[in-house]
Amino acid sequence: MTSKKILITRLFPEIGAKLLKKAGFEITQWQEDRPMTQSELIEQAKGHHGILCTLTEKIDSELLSSCPNIEIISQFAVGYDNIDVKKATQLGIPVGYTPDVLSAATADIAFGLMVATSRKMFYLHKSIIEDKWDYFKPNANLGIELHNKTLGIFGLGRIGFEMAKLCKGAYNMNVIYNNRTPNKKAEQELGANWVDFETLLAQSDVLSVHCALTPATNGIFNKKAFDKMKLSSIFINTARGLIHNETDLIEALNSQQIWGVGLDVTNPEPMKANNPLLVMENVSVLPHVGSGTVETRDKMAIIAANNIIGFYKNKQIPHIINPEVLQD
Ligand code: DGY
Repeated sequence: MTSKKILITRLFPEIGAKLLKKAGFEITQWQEDRPMTQSELIEQAKGHHGILCTLTEKIDSELLSSCPNIEIISQFAVGYDNIDVKKATQLGIPVGYTPDVLSAATADIAFGLMVATSRKMFYLHKSIIEDKWDYFKPNANLGIELHNKTLGIFGLGRIGFEMAKLCKGAYNMNVIYNNRTPNKKAEQELGANWVDFETLLAQSDVLSVHCALTPATNGIFNKKAFDKMKLSSIFINTARGLIHNETDLIEALNSQQIWGVGLDVTNPEPMKANNPLLVMENVSVLPHVGSGTVETRDKMAIIAANNIIGFYKNKQIPHIINPEVLQD
């Protein structure tokens, strides 16, 4: 194999670059901690055969047309809404990604946000920093319990399944879900029940979002949706910030239309420090760290590298979004 040039767009676990180098690839890796601007990205990508990128890079039609040498895109993430997959497919460019390995870590964050929100942990932690812990108050800062409550999962795929499993095990929660297709495994193993979207909104005590960002899910959690949720409900989003309308979410909390919110993804990202959500009592926010454990990020780096290696070795990409481009 002639040496192929791969652009790694961010600093990421070394194991990925090592695997690529060992397999004979010539690597260029962006060395700054920040993502490239779009023009820097296009400039860097020119002359490369593959891009190993993450969700901070916009792999759009302009980039793909400006970089005719690109033969493969390998995304270091399970979500790929930053990539114009349709255009890549038209150009015959395969797009790899890293599903499965991050499901447990991401579900941990959804579960953690649920518990933290239900007991106001982030807010109470901040109140100590602000020197507001004076004495024990029997009526103050009361949370709500999760035992035997109803968990609604919007998008019951791999991550949603792990979240449902955690909630079932820890709190014996009753699981309902809304998906395009039924999840038989979740129904058999967790007793999950498919419901329509309206029922999911009306019956969930905790509503946790795990779907992909698509035109159909963009902004689906808006005022109309929050108005149908229980006053005592907690909304969790660890998928993509654009799935909820943040102005409507703030309004739903202010008007006590919903009880609490836990977010690992925000709309927009990054969230500004003066966002009203950050000072609310029943809100927990994290800066998009769902897959952020040493073990998971290493596994993602290995898969992202192996997707490239497999493509050049035997035209096989272990985890591919558009397999049709590899069919002869
Ligand atoms: C993903 O994989 O899509 C996460 O959001 C980033 O790790």
